[in-house]
Amino acid sequence: MFSTAFLDIPALEGASGTVVLPGSKSISNRVLLLAALCEGTTNIHDLLDSDDTQVMLEALRTLGCAVTKEGSTVRIAGLGGVLPNRSAKLFLGNAGTAMRPLAAALAVLGGDFELSGVPRMHERPIGDLVDALRPLGCAIDYLGTEGFPPLRIGTPALQLDAPIRVRGDVSSQFLTALLMALPLVAQHRAPTAGQDIVIEVVGELISRPYIEITLNLLARFGVSVQREGWQRFTIAAGCQLRSPGTLHVEADASSASYFIALGAIAAGASGRNGIRIQGVGADSIQGDIRFIDAARLMGASVESGPNWLDIRRGRWPLQAIDLDCNHIPDAAMTLAVMALYANGTTKLRNIASWRVKETDRIAAMATELRKLGATVVEGADFIEITPPAKAPDWRAARIHTYDDHRVAMCFSLAAFNPARLPVRIEDPKCVGKTFPDYFEALFSVTSPAAAVPVICVDGPTASGKGTLASETARRLGYHLLDSGSLYRITALAAARAGLALDPENAPAIAKLLATLVIRFEAERVWLGDADVTDAIRTEEAGMNASKVSPFPEVRNALVQLQHSFRKLPGLVADGRDMGTVIFPDAGLKVFLTASAEKRAERRYKQLISKGISTTIPSLRADLEARDARDASRSVAPLRSAEDAKLLDNSDLTIEESVELVLNWWQGKQPFKSV
Ligand code: DC
Repeated sequence: MFSTAFLDIPALEGASGTVVLPGSKSISNRVLLLAALCEGTTNIHDLLDSDDTQVMLEALRTLGCAVTKEGSTVRIAGLGGVLPNRSAKLFLGNAGTAMRPLAAALAVLGGDFELSGVPRMHERPIGDLVDALRPLGCAIDYLGTEGFPPLRIGTPALQLDAPIRVRGDVSSQFLTALLMALPLVAQHRAPTAGQDIVIEVVGELISRPYIEITLNLLARFGVSVQREGWQRFTIAAGCQLRSPGTLHVEADASSASYFIALGAIAAGASGRNGIRIQGVGADSIQGDIRFIDAARLMGASVESGPNWLDIRRGRWPLQAIDLDCNHIPDAAMTLAVMALYANGTTKLRNIASWRVKETDRIAAMATELRKLGATVVEGADFIEITPPAKAPDWRAARIHTYDDHRVAMCFSLAAFNPARLPVRIEDPKCVGKTFPDYFEALFSVTSPAAAVPVICVDGPTASGKGTLASETARRLGYHLLDSGSLYRITALAAARAGLALDPENAPAIAKLLATLVIRFEAERVWLGDADVTDAIRTEEAGMNASKVSPFPEVRNALVQLQHSFRKLPGLVADGRDMGTVIFPDAGLKVFLTASAEKRAERRYKQLISKGISTTIPSLRADLEARDARDASRSVAPLRSAEDAKLLDNSDLTIEESVELVLNWWQGKQPFKSV
């Protein structure tokens, strides 16, 4: 997951390959609640692991439900409708799929509960659900603003003889919440005439496909709800929620929409190459799968099987559409971004629910699409998008994401713009709500429109390159290449293979290099099965590296490996020849210097803190010897690239150096300052 302040996505062009999508949020949170409420134990496979499901799992644990994890399987011991903890404070983040159904279930079960969330959750309506529950005798109070969480829930005096009436035109989650909670009451009623529980929907029911998911999952848990149109739902007296034992969660169809759009937009996704989406097919129970039809209308070529979708670019440019999107409210946001690549004005209608989601999505989409150069008209329940007329009309935009995962994911697709401009996504970690590794998945199947950005940090030994490079990479969410470690590994492997580090062994050492399996993983360095992180960090290993690094055969053998680090979204590379030899086209080259005295002092502190005894003069002599050797060798001698920025960090803190480099980098980006 990218937890940087922003993520700059370079202009993208091609796409092909397979993505395995995470589990559906809607299914995951419904299944979790049903598994907790029902009788029996449920093993849930492929459950979504995201902010919203964490919130639900935590709430269930707090209520006394036993949750265990074995690999990717979550086991829930059902409570059979009896809560061990009847007094609890539950924090539900910004998860509507947790707040609404839990509120209903706890209100009918009764106890002393407080339900709250993040500030935005306290702006998302719940009044219609409370209004439906109060006439049943449920005790629910608003702790803040009337009609919104936080809520206090007490013990009800249930009376269920009249039909329960709920409004369906603001959020379908209110009906879903009642449908999942009321079987807990129905199970205590004798299956005789007049005892069934009836729910009547007042007003037009929106987002109906989500109700279908609810009914479908209730059936899996043994409760079949009779429905008459979308107006009347009957839960039979005496029915009971029972665990189905094992359950597989489908991949998220709303998450699939970004990759369906990607296949329709990316130039490379044609012919035999396309995007395969694994985990969900056209027969999905999720309503958002109907996004496929809308994408086809716009020109996507979609084939599907039981558990997969294949997407290719069809018509190009895409076809502008005018569509009622009430049945696919979440995935329809993706259409708004596809509209940027269409041949006219696209109108998405009947989307008033966008205004009460994670953010006011109509306003958010309009604002951000305009930043890219689109012309947007927004209404109470529609949005109309006209793309920039020509490539030069596109703008490099910093996309604000409003803590809304879908805004972030949608706008990543703007990186396919014909002007080849990068797109900045602010707060990229907000995708964690439903798809924590979204950007990793995107980068794994896309190719850049031009060379991937690289920042080089070269300089003498102990100048602080490593720290500066890794901190810069961390701040930008870029990959990191510590090229010195490759020379250190080479020397170590040669010594372990019994090869003296002499020039006549250079061809043999280069040959050995071709057989090595080197992996960089979570701050550890692996040589085959051995963790060599510490072994290559000794002073001796550094000296040995400096012995093998002048061998042309060794340097050549390492070129390809170093180039392979240049991957989306970008790379920070540190070493001696990054800017001069390996990445001469790097967007920013920094040549770091510090006096030998300062470097010796820093290295001294480092070694002493590791418990290694040494002296400053001896370290200084070593550093100077190594500098002389690195600078005087005939291949790739240590020198500053002509176009490098010099950075003498003798009197700078690490943080100051990082800020300086980041500012230089910002200065080269096309984003206008705010
Ligand atoms: O940066 P470092 O101390 O880990 O580098 C170890 C040795 O490898 C150093 O003596 C110089 C050499 N080296 C090189 O020649 N080219 C690079 N790109 C990186 C390191």
